[in-house]
Amino acid sequence: MAKPKRRYVCSSCGGVTTRWQGQCADCGEWNTLSEEAPQTVFSTKHDLSSGGRPIRFTPLDAPGEVPKRRASGLAEFDRALGGGLVPGSAILLGGDPGIGKSTLLLQAAAHIANSGSSAVYVSGEEAAGQVRLRAERLGLSKAPIQLASATSVRDILTTLGMMDAPTLLVIDSIQTMHSDTIEGAPGTVSQVRGCAFELIRYAKENDVTLILVGHVTKDGNIAGPRVLEHMVDVVMSFEGERSHQYRILRSLKNRFGPVDEIGVFAMEGAGLAEVGNPSMLFLSGREEAMAGSAVFAAMEGTRPVLIEIQALIVRLQSGATPRRAVVGWDSGRMAMLLAVLEARCGLNFSSAEVYLNVAGGYRLADPAADLAVAAALVSALGDRPLPKNTVWFGEVSLAGEIRPVAHSSIRQRESAKLGFGRAYGPVATTKPEKGLEFTGMSMLPNLVDRIL
Ligand code: TYD
Ligand code: MG
Repeated sequence: MAKPKRRYVCSSCGGVTTRWQGQCADCGEWNTLSEEAPQTVFSTKHDLSSGGRPIRFTPLDAPGEVPKRRASGLAEFDRALGGGLVPGSAILLGGDPGIGKSTLLLQAAAHIANSGSSAVYVSGEEAAGQVRLRAERLGLSKAPIQLASATSVRDILTTLGMMDAPTLLVIDSIQTMHSDTIEGAPGTVSQVRGCAFELIRYAKENDVTLILVGHVTKDGNIAGPRVLEHMVDVVMSFEGERSHQYRILRSLKNRFGPVDEIGVFAMEGAGLAEVGNPSMLFLSGREEAMAGSAVFAAMEGTRPVLIEIQALIVRLQSGATPRRAVVGWDSGRMAMLLAVLEARCGLNFSSAEVYLNVAGGYRLADPAADLAVAAALVSALGDRPLPKNTVWFGEVSLAGEIRPVAHSSIRQRESAKLGFGRAYGPVATTKPEKGLEFTGMSMLPNLVDRIL
């Protein structure tokens, strides 16, 4: 048998090398490589003398093997999951500290316990008393949840092995768990991976839905090895501004459903309330349509977001050089768009000051913002409010064409979900989505004709 080699694993990307280095060759991070136990090497003989046992193949339509989903009791949570909890599956829930992960899961666990199934909530971060205090605040202290404060995976699995398997098992958080068979402090790559592996195996063998809370790093990724995301069936992120009330639950990966569904919640005095009609969230304060304001259906990486773009145009009387100021977008790109509007649509911005602002401190990088910015500029120039409940997306070329952009169906679906009724976009865009009226435009003058 070949001597197992030493291996060093990067805690940021999970890359493996056989030699220690200061910098990971895969992701370029510094000081992230640490030594791991060598991998076992099997015999290369491919018959029963290798010690393996034959596995069983089954046809795709084998009866009784399709898992049935269970409702969590929180409709927005179920929606983001693609229709409820799948037995024997593992969900990783990430999010900033204090965003409400523990609150969300305590509420889901209470719903399940109240409906007669059993729910186990293991907190490695808080003492049982603290969790109980939160439950009291949420009005859930009567829910028959099995609550424990523990961090040893061996203890947790031993205890679970002695009782009937629960419907739901919540581990808050995976970074606080440790296994005594693995070297290293809790939160290190090998500990996180080893503990997750043991817990996931238990969940799969016993048809338990396992939810692991995961910490996130500064840049929003789930801390610990990327491999954790590969090991679980569903990766979700709970997002929002801590100072604001609204929280959005998204699935970033889902082996059992779509990834572009979102769940919307509001953090209130007594926990998370579901926001069944999230359009209110974005439309409040915008009862009267304002000239110069356009809603852009943007994509943040693979995620859709709706963002308001505001333009203000001030006509100058004197011959002074007009100011142009942009917050949240590329000023060169705005200069280009103004030039296209002048050259292709005959509009005149030359003696006017132009201000452009992206609401909420967002910084737009998506090229599809062109059409929404153009709509805001034209609306401000003509002092004509844009139609209400409308979103815009599309790229504009120097020739004034409105060009197709990626993910147009996700943009439309998100807009419809958030209560918008109409979208303007590139004419060559794919099919219009349900619940939304789509109007395709091919040239920028079409846009100007519609607004002015
Ligand atoms: P928590 O669930 O502990 O966040 P996480 O587990 O993601 O770190 O939520 C903590 C925040 O939520 C805390 O700052 C206070 C707020 N909160 C409420 O506003 N109302 C409530 O009923 C509860 C329980 C928490
Ligand atoms: Mg917590």
